[in-house]
Amino acid sequence: MCGIIGYAGHRPAVPVVIEGLRRLEYRGYDSAGVAFSGHGNLHVVRATGKLAALEEKLAHEESVITPTCAMGHTRWATHGAPVERNAHPHCSNDGSLAMVHNGIIENFQELKVELVAKGYTFSSETDTEVLVNLIEERRKNAPDVLHAFAEALREAHGTYAVCLMDRAEPGVIYAARMSAPLIFGLGTGENFVASDIPAFLPFTRKVIFLEDGEIVRLTATTYEVLHLEDLRPKVHEIHTIAWDMQAAQKSGYRHFMLKEIFEQPRVILDGFAGRMHEGDVVLKELDALPVPRRLHIVACGTSYHSGLWGRHLLEHWAHVPVQVEIASEFRYREAVLFDKDDMVLVISQSGETADTLAALRAAKKCGVPVLGLCNVVGSSIAREASAVLYTQAGPEISVASTKAMCSQMLMLALMALYWARRNEGMTLQERRTTLALLAGLPDLLDAALPAMHQRARELSRKYAQTRNFFYLGRGHCYPLALEGALKLKELSYIHAEGYAAGEMKHGPIALIDPSFPTFVLALDDALLPKVVSNMVEVQARQGKVIALTNEGLDMHVEDIWEIPRLPSPLAGFVALPALQLFSYEVADYLGKDVDQPRNLAKSVTVE
Ligand code: F6R
Repeated sequence: MCGIIGYAGHRPAVPVVIEGLRRLEYRGYDSAGVAFSGHGNLHVVRATGKLAALEEKLAHEESVITPTCAMGHTRWATHGAPVERNAHPHCSNDGSLAMVHNGIIENFQELKVELVAKGYTFSSETDTEVLVNLIEERRKNAPDVLHAFAEALREAHGTYAVCLMDRAEPGVIYAARMSAPLIFGLGTGENFVASDIPAFLPFTRKVIFLEDGEIVRLTATTYEVLHLEDLRPKVHEIHTIAWDMQAAQKSGYRHFMLKEIFEQPRVILDGFAGRMHEGDVVLKELDALPVPRRLHIVACGTSYHSGLWGRHLLEHWAHVPVQVEIASEFRYREAVLFDKDDMVLVISQSGETADTLAALRAAKKCGVPVLGLCNVVGSSIAREASAVLYTQAGPEISVASTKAMCSQMLMLALMALYWARRNEGMTLQERRTTLALLAGLPDLLDAALPAMHQRARELSRKYAQTRNFFYLGRGHCYPLALEGALKLKELSYIHAEGYAAGEMKHGPIALIDPSFPTFVLALDDALLPKVVSNMVEVQARQGKVIALTNEGLDMHVEDIWEIPRLPSPLAGFVALPALQLFSYEVADYLGKDVDQPRNLAKSVTVE
């Protein structure tokens, strides 16, 4: 989604803002812009496309007068096409105010009608231009711009993270949030506000996680956080960020995605940190909660696939019945029938996904405890959940999620073992054996990843021109088949469908012909004979099969890809990077924008 940064300090502000926007590029965007004050005016420069286009325009801008206060925006179109007139910042009619905005003002059409009746004109199709003009209008009867800003926000329904600059106060930035991320960074003689921490991390690690319904007024040396409702001051804890820019950079890899795939051994190690004591799992975050009688897992996209995978472990090891549902469906169910001792688990890498957040709120309204499994510390979901488990995977920059899924799978495995202890679903010895296998994963993966990468590269050359793909799996491999298909389509734009292998003959098999290959997860587990039958059915229709399998199994298929053997369901930790690497290599070979696939955003803060 859109990226925002505001800066007030002592450095030339435009380069700080542009570099900040660059570090937010992973969020996905289609246009960008900056605003800064100088010579008594507010200057706005905007461009469609990548940041380089904006920089090019700035280089020709005569009014660049090294301001020390500026704000910038990368836009991912929601209202209106991705063209310059819709790019942010937007100015009010009298040119006194400029605004950048992430989110959607749902009642902007009604507000616009009122403003049009008063003579306001609009040059864009955006809700943001309505909001900034509403502030101009409310300022006529308000003591100052802060009161006008607050009043306009109280009238706006929807989601927003906004920054506002006023021509009359050149060194000041106002900002506010409602269900969209906004973080305040405190430097020395400089202050920041941004959609995510990397935007300002080279300058400060001290942050305040702003909350919904808060406004901040910042200058180079001062800041005030206020309640939107009545502008009462609010005191916040200042957090120190432990990770650094190194963790958010490519470290020699061709793409962030590749780096993040190769980080998975470390992600597993870090996921264990603080979660083991005397050979058993400790999850202090869960100690105060009862073991759920039934768990509802709610998530979107890749996180949803993790949930489907985790169900097998939670049911098998901990004997907790699990339902898994897509958040955008769950939130609009007319009646979710919760029983006493039910629990909801929301899974979200970003912790900001609008549908998952709404599902969390809906469940909380029903009085059900909601556990959050998040990567981004201090994110909305992490803050609103009854308890939160962090995946500790570090920043995931590539839009396509990879290491986050691995970290979610690890945490789901640890949760299953933890509840298995409390539920007596497994003996201590069984838990220890499983933990030993999990603890061995980092070394196993470190050793296996280079060869897997090589095999992925070979197969990608053979299949890159294919237009359609099936991914099949059974049991714990079914969610991985879904994930394999999602990765291939989102990165390379090749049509791919994930299916439960047993479901093929109920319709989809009609599509099979020699040009429609099938990627089968044929790992050495109890369901393998069934999977082999499904594979043979595909081959009987002249379908080509790539079998992701283990050494020593007798497979008669077009292409065999052998990966190290692990007992099911832990084998998923090895199969997952194979699927990711195959999609990565196909997309890279086809020359696609691997880290920022078209039409996608890292953090989906609209429904
Ligand atoms: C796919 C992908 C998306 C996300 C989904 C949920 O590669 O990244 O499908 O998994 O948008 O995002 P989070 O986990 O941040 O809630």
